[in-house]
Amino acid sequence: MNYKDILEKVFHDTKGLTNKGKIATYIPELANVNPTMFGVHMTNLTGEGYGMGNNLVKFSIQSIAKVFSLTLAYRILGEEIWKRVDVEPSGTKFDSLLLLEINNGIPRNPFINSGAIVICDILVSHLGNARKEFLAFVRDLSNLPNLSYSDKIADSEKANGYRNVALCNFIKSLGNIKNDPTEVLDFYFDMCSLEMNCEQLSYAFTYLANGGLKISDSSEVITKPQSKRINALMLTCGFYDESGEFAFKVGLPGKSGVGGGIVALYPHSYTIAVWSPPLNPNGNSFLGMKFLEEFTTHSDFTIF
Ligand code: DON
Repeated sequence: MNYKDILEKVFHDTKGLTNKGKIATYIPELANVNPTMFGVHMTNLTGEGYGMGNNLVKFSIQSIAKVFSLTLAYRILGEEIWKRVDVEPSGTKFDSLLLLEINNGIPRNPFINSGAIVICDILVSHLGNARKEFLAFVRDLSNLPNLSYSDKIADSEKANGYRNVALCNFIKSLGNIKNDPTEVLDFYFDMCSLEMNCEQLSYAFTYLANGGLKISDSSEVITKPQSKRINALMLTCGFYDESGEFAFKVGLPGKSGVGGGIVALYPHSYTIAVWSPPLNPNGNSFLGMKFLEEFTTHSDFTIF
């Protein structure tokens, strides 16, 4: 079977499953999404793509944006970045405070909330206007000049993000946040509010399947070794306390978000984005996980 036939078969098989997931409601605005949405889009490194279902409907990419913020901070700071954030799986929930005290305010990795907040602090320190320059960076790498933040989602999270406020203040007390916590958190909430559809998301991640180069003009987003390391972090830390299970069942570097999106990639080959809002108990898309497991288990589109 070619990849289009496999995608279609797995899409229809997965659509037929009972969705046992639950929509995230801790950000009230996210609860307004239609739970039956289900879309998939695959992009190869020549830019050719194929998608189905609700692949052209925009959704809140949430934590998936943490890969873009890490990319920009890594590009600015180079290896110095690892003095501020570690590279180990946390084995805890994405918004956990648990390990920060014993690790002196150094988050376990850049994808859990604490790590992503430290990355936002780095960007606030190094950019004149982090909100504006981060958006310009993602617009450029995704070839989406009209990409924007969702003020509705960001405001909804700002009004209810008590755990993130706690995390940022706690890290500040331990010396690993250099700026005003309110400024850092405002940027963090904006960053998480970016909206894309599956087609756009799978295209935006192609630089990580292409050794750090944009597929459109081969310009460098990050170096090849940096791209290797971000892929390694996605494989080991992209799904929080379900990262081991994702590697075990799907076997690709990837990143999830509480909006129900997952993006995964096969280096030098393709990227794939899937979206279904109801989440499993670990905060990852229930159907998205099932889809990717079937897709890589019954095809040659797998690393292992
Ligand atoms: O900080 C939060 O809680 C959200 N803005 C992002 C969390 C998220 O997407 C976790 N991913 N599965």
